Amino acid sequence: MQSLVVEGGKRISGEIKLQGAKNSALPILAASILSRGETVLKNCPKLTDVYAACRILSHLGCNCLIEGNNIKVKSSVINKTEVPENLMHKMRSSIIFLGAVLGRTGECKLSFPGGCELGPRPIDIHLSALRKMGVTIKEEYGELNCTVEKELHGAKIILPFPSVGATENVILASVLAKGETEIKNAAREPEIVDLSNYLNCCGAKIVGAGSGTISITGVPYLSGCEYAVMPDRIVAATYLSAAAITAGELNITDIKTGDIESILPVFEEMGCYLYSYADNLYVNAKKILKPVKKLITMPYPGFPTDAQHMIMAALCKAKGTSMFVENIFENRYKHVDELVKMGADIKAEGKVAVVEGVDRLFGTTVNATDLRGGAALVIAGLAAEGITTISNISHIDRGYDEIEKALSSVGANVVRI
Ligand code: EPZ
Repeated sequence: MQSLVVEGGKRISGEIKLQGAKNSALPILAASILSRGETVLKNCPKLTDVYAACRILSHLGCNCLIEGNNIKVKSSVINKTEVPENLMHKMRSSIIFLGAVLGRTGECKLSFPGGCELGPRPIDIHLSALRKMGVTIKEEYGELNCTVEKELHGAKIILPFPSVGATENVILASVLAKGETEIKNAAREPEIVDLSNYLNCCGAKIVGAGSGTISITGVPYLSGCEYAVMPDRIVAATYLSAAAITAGELNITDIKTGDIESILPVFEEMGCYLYSYADNLYVNAKKILKPVKKLITMPYPGFPTDAQHMIMAALCKAKGTSMFVENIFENRYKHVDELVKMGADIKAEGKVAVVEGVDRLFGTTVNATDLRGGAALVIAGLAAEGITTISNISHIDRGYDEIEKALSSVGANVVRI
């Protein structure tokens, strides 16, 4: 089991190129199943979740070639429609393969990504939407057995919640389906726009991605294409948090600041100076961070739930009280106990977490509880006194491409052991 060792007290200063977005690369890799040609996906981050997605593609019959940040997928032949449990459980978001395999073959068998339809990662919204498109879904012993009796057809889908994954699964199932699909109350995340741009580049007919209503006209065939994944807006929030907590200054390149418009005001409220020009974002943080009165996570374009953890870590050292309200996921404060071990003063109860800034954080041994919670511990370690050792960093490697190298390249001292 690897760990990260962080020596606190080093000021972040320099320039970092932003990696490609995990939450765009994964659905696009699943979408490549729908194309009969070759997909060349550029700017792919080197992440364990991306490699897990490639293993699923290969298992299904695709030919996957990973060359650094470029992945070539040949999907002319799909000779399996079942995603085995061991591959499903490698990646929480593997449910995204359901829509793609159904769209291409009309059947799919896979195990629940963690328990049951309403479990820790519920998929009820996905399944009820697919049923409206003519999919028969049998659930037994944690397995989903999906078939299409007659044909996969378009439908008018109104999502009860703008679920990112459900929106993506409906798009994937509808691009080759018969007729029109309309998704109302669709998720508006930039990753949905990226997926739609990739599919349209392959010949799909998708209109409205990024808005609450997405219309898809089924086409008989999708060719391959060459496409570059968008920059990762959550990794950008992570780097901004690193600069904030170390009173540092950073120039982030290859960023689309339009994707983080709801995050920038938070850093300005903390007292950071931000300046964006072209695809660069310059941040200069003050020695004393100001608290953020209220940080409410919402579906896009609201403040993103994935950025909550790293910003909370930075606010542990702000001068005053900050409050978080987590509206998207239940139980997304697992990192709080670990931050408290480092001397943070945080009270979390249900959706709400209240952070009282402290003067000092102390390096100690902490455990990454999940992807963004682990990233929060790295951020706190940057400003803690002494050494912070973070275990279970496989969580972090799911979403960050060599985080220790990126942060060490701008003055931090983070080592993987
Ligand atoms: C995507 O997860 C992201 N993952 C998450 O990022 C992100 O936090 C989330 O969207 C919200 O932005 C990927 O894109 C791979 P949802 P997803 O469906 O699709 C409930 C990270 O750190 N829900 O929008 O799973 C669900 O329980 C990850 O990179 C249902 O109840 O998110 C949650 O409370 C973490 N039934 C809420 O909706 C369903 O059928 C949002 O889920 C589906 C979702």
